[in-house]
Amino acid sequence: MRIDILTLFPEMFAPVLGASILKRAADPALYEKAAGELTLEPHGAPVAYHLTDIRAYTTDKHGKVDDRPFGGGPGMVMQCQPVWDAVQAVEKLDPRKARRIVLSPQGRRLDQPLVEELAGQPRLLLIAGHYEGFDQRAIDALEPLEVSIGDYVLSGGELAAMVLTDAVVRLIPGVLGDERSAHHESFSAGAQGLLDYPHYTRPAVWQGRTVPEVLLSGDHARIEAWRKEQARHRTELRRPDLLPPPEPA
Ligand code: ADE
Repeated sequence: MRIDILTLFPEMFAPVLGASILKRAADPALYEKAAGELTLEPHGAPVAYHLTDIRAYTTDKHGKVDDRPFGGGPGMVMQCQPVWDAVQAVEKLDPRKARRIVLSPQGRRLDQPLVEELAGQPRLLLIAGHYEGFDQRAIDALEPLEVSIGDYVLSGGELAAMVLTDAVVRLIPGVLGDERSAHHESFSAGAQGLLDYPHYTRPAVWQGRTVPEVLLSGDHARIEAWRKEQARHRTELRRPDLLPPPEPA
């Protein structure tokens, strides 16, 4: 998958794309032997990130990309021209059609089903706004999917773009070492929309606290049943909204 990110602050992304799973996903050295089984980018890894500074596309000789809102009010609004021209130029860099996404608190709330849908796309184009957001005409012309990462307001779409990127990239085949680990966790289809069960590792006793006996039993059927029960119990206690509605009597 190719991920284009358009932003006024490309430098915000280097620490996040350059560490841990997101870094590994774009590292061709790790995937040499996997070619043929996985869909790889031209450079030989499952994912390629391309950052674009929207300011590089402004036609304003002072580098301006925003202006005061018509009708008055606080803050500045990002102008149509730089973002439109940036999108047109970046989309030409690869023949694959990009799914355009604008990060915005007005968008559709990001959840695991949407993440799974986006993980199946060949190319995402994420547009992060700052200030009071974009001139509405740019949104109307680009017809993007608008996505929010939650009901709170960030100072820009960059952190939201990073959250979306992280959630999507870890689902791309080849990115996580153990293919099962993404499948069973909270909110994924494999966990039937329940919260995750609790996990334990060595030592078996820590500060006098023990591990549930069933996990040491080696009885895989009992372990599976216990984990299912724990997942259901936790979901009932913490997130009853995730459970299917009870059957009418
Ligand atoms: N930009 C500012 N706040 C945001 C949010 N909650 N989600 C996505 N983009 C944003």
